Amino acid sequence: MKCPRRKFLEKLALGTSVLFVPSVLSACGGKKKDYLTELEAGTIEEFEKVMYKTNEFNNVPILTLKNPEGKYETFSLQCTHQGCIVKFSEQNKEFQCPCHKGVYNIKGEVIKGPPPAPLKKYATIVKNGKIIVLEQSV
Ligand code: FES
Repeated sequence: MKCPRRKFLEKLALGTSVLFVPSVLSACGGKKKDYLTELEAGTIEEFEKVMYKTNEFNNVPILTLKNPEGKYETFSLQCTHQGCIVKFSEQNKEFQCPCHKGVYNIKGEVIKGPPPAPLKKYATIVKNGKIIVLEQSV
């Protein structure tokens, strides 16, 4: 025969797990909604007036520009050296890191300083006149 206290604890555990599971599932569902797989960076019309636009994509600052060949490209603004936020110089057409003077060209390639790799580049497409940034890297 089972101890009454043990039976009580088993029932309590079962009840707790029934209550706990839906709250865990809803918490997981909430997090998934916050994660974007694509972002509208602007419209073709907007990019006729400006060279670039900045946004935030899944907590990463990004910059979308229309390159000299007329193609839309999007870069993470996180320096690949130690993660500082790089600034885009429209005049020099390059990304400059304020932390250790790393410099990337307009294609995101390292041209000066300590960064070990190019800036992360996101797939960017045009859909119905809108510039869409996709989570996937290129
Ligand atoms: S963090 Fe950018 S050059 Fe060091």
